[in-house]
Amino acid sequence: MTENEEIAVRLAHENDIDAIAWIYGESFGDTRPRDPVEQYLGLAGSWALLATMGGPQAMTPAGFVLARTVLDETEIFSVGVLALYRRLGVGETLMEGTRRIAALGGARAIFLEVGADNPPAQALYAKSGYQIVGRRADYYKRDDGNCVDAMVMRLSLVVSA
Ligand SMILES: CC(C)(COP(=O)(O)OP(=O)(O)OC[C@H]1O[C@@H](n2cnc3c(N)ncnc32)[C@H](O)[C@@H]1OP(=O)(O)O)[C@@H](O)C(=O)NCCC(=O)NCCS
Repeated sequence: MTENEEIAVRLAHENDIDAIAWIYGESFGDTRPRDPVEQYLGLAGSWALLATMGGPQAMTPAGFVLARTVLDETEIFSVGVLALYRRLGVGETLMEGTRRIAALGGARAIFLEVGADNPPAQALYAKSGYQIVGRRADYYKRDDGNCVDAMVMRLSLVVSA
């Protein structure tokens, strides 16, 4: 779907769930990552992208997006890139793939939530054109018991004339 010399991004299928769960587990420190991944993919309208390294024929999983499109909105549930492959453009390539799949599915906007304590992810989304449109107080509970606000970010897919 999207590719450059190193990174390929494509829609994931059933066989990719293990790879996505592995990356999810590493990205979020989740020791039972298959459960949330399967929960997200069980929701109506859900889909996933898998990024691989080494070009379109390569099978080295590097990152994922979990999302769903309902009516004219796409919601991103989760994005993760293996630590080994960060800062190489995998996240940005995944966000571009997300934009294309959302638009093909009829979405007019993409929404996501990101922790106020996650500057790398906020920077990725801002670079991909997302703008902060809201804030949810104490939305995430971290492992240390602290609560953290979520920033709500939005990308419009409507091209104004
Ligand atoms: C956030 C995450 C997905 C970024 O993936 P990535 O493949 O490293 O991102 P990219 O290499 O495409 O970076 C694109 C841009 O995002 C920003 N960015 C990414 N990582 C950053 C960091 N650690 N610090 C500051 N900016 C960062 C930069 O603007 C970067 O562009 P640049 O490299 O030209 O400066 C990755 O760090 C990750 O998986 N983190 C853990 C899971 C997570 O927090 N997911 C998001 C939950 S909402």
